Amino acid sequence: MRKSFFQWAHLYRMAKTIFRLFPPPFEEVALEGLYLRLNLHRLGTPEKPFVYANFLTSLDGRIALEDSSGQTYLPKSLTTPNDFRLFLELECQADCLITHGGYLRSLAEKRLGNILQIGLTDTTRDLAEWREAQGLVPQPAIVVASASLDFPMPPSIREHGQACYIATGEQADPAKLDYWRRQGYDIILAGKGRMVEGDVLTRRLGELGYRTIYLIAGPHMLDTMVREGRLARLFQTITHQLMGGEVFRTLLPGPELGPFGHLKLLSLYYDPTSPLGAGQWFAQFESNHV
Ligand SMILES: NC(=O)c1ccc[n+]([C@@H]2O[C@H](COP(=O)([O-])OP(=O)(O)OC[C@H]3O[C@@H](n4cnc5c(N)ncnc54)[C@H](OP(=O)(O)O)[C@@H]3O)[C@@H](O)[C@H]2O)c1
Repeated sequence: MRKSFFQWAHLYRMAKTIFRLFPPPFEEVALEGLYLRLNLHRLGTPEKPFVYANFLTSLDGRIALEDSSGQTYLPKSLTTPNDFRLFLELECQADCLITHGGYLRSLAEKRLGNILQIGLTDTTRDLAEWREAQGLVPQPAIVVASASLDFPMPPSIREHGQACYIATGEQADPAKLDYWRRQGYDIILAGKGRMVEGDVLTRRLGELGYRTIYLIAGPHMLDTMVREGRLARLFQTITHQLMGGEVFRTLLPGPELGPFGHLKLLSLYYDPTSPLGAGQWFAQFESNHV
């Protein structure tokens, strides 16, 4: 029987290997399953949820560029199938994802693809099976962090039976809070102003029973989680390109961080083949402060 493009892509990825640089020994290892073997879903408890994030940067620290209209975008040369596979392996281990209003607006405008559900395509079916084998619910809960409360809720969340919360600050617009409550969404007030604070949000999610929380939001949510000592692990893909671009985004938008930003390297893998003939590192760091 002839194989579809997706089946070929899946077989190619299965055969794909990269190199472990740290910890020793140097070794060729399979890409697929690399992060699933970390078993992050066993590391958190409701008393101390395990919060982790994954970012993709160039050598000069860009995570996104801004175009002349002020719109930020992820340059295509940053993203690769290998990085995306590892992103999905991390997502697969979570019982709760934190996204934000900006992502839901981009999703509705089709400027970004859907990453709110796991294992629904031919090439990612193994991830759904992995979740089932580990006793995890088919799809993780979703938390939408938003100060404005202006975003469209994608129907896919309810279609897949995912618990869904909206997190915002205590100073959020009461009329908008009423609107979302009338739509049947639970609100988590997690911050004294309009913004969500990482410490309060993590505690509330623990009280709701969540243990393994994957941050798929942007730099502002990362900033508050790190600053408040709640980020347990940072996964960073560093592509070997100097990107430039005069107006850009980087990992942390806030003021100088000090010791909270000091991390310990847990693992480092080298993928020599992508993107576009340059290589990339897949690094995993642990926080000293959680
Ligand atoms: N390379 C990578 O790994 C990577 C990762 C993430 C993002 N990016 C890119 O980087 C650029 C900027 O990212 P971003 O748009 O995610 O930026 P962001 O400024 O971190 O987040 C944007 C939106 O998230 C909500 N938000 C964030 N933190 C919040 C908080 N503490 N409390 C309440 N709401 C909060 C706000 O939504 P409301 O406006 O609804 O209040 C805000 O407008 C984008 O182009 C994105 O694609 C790259």
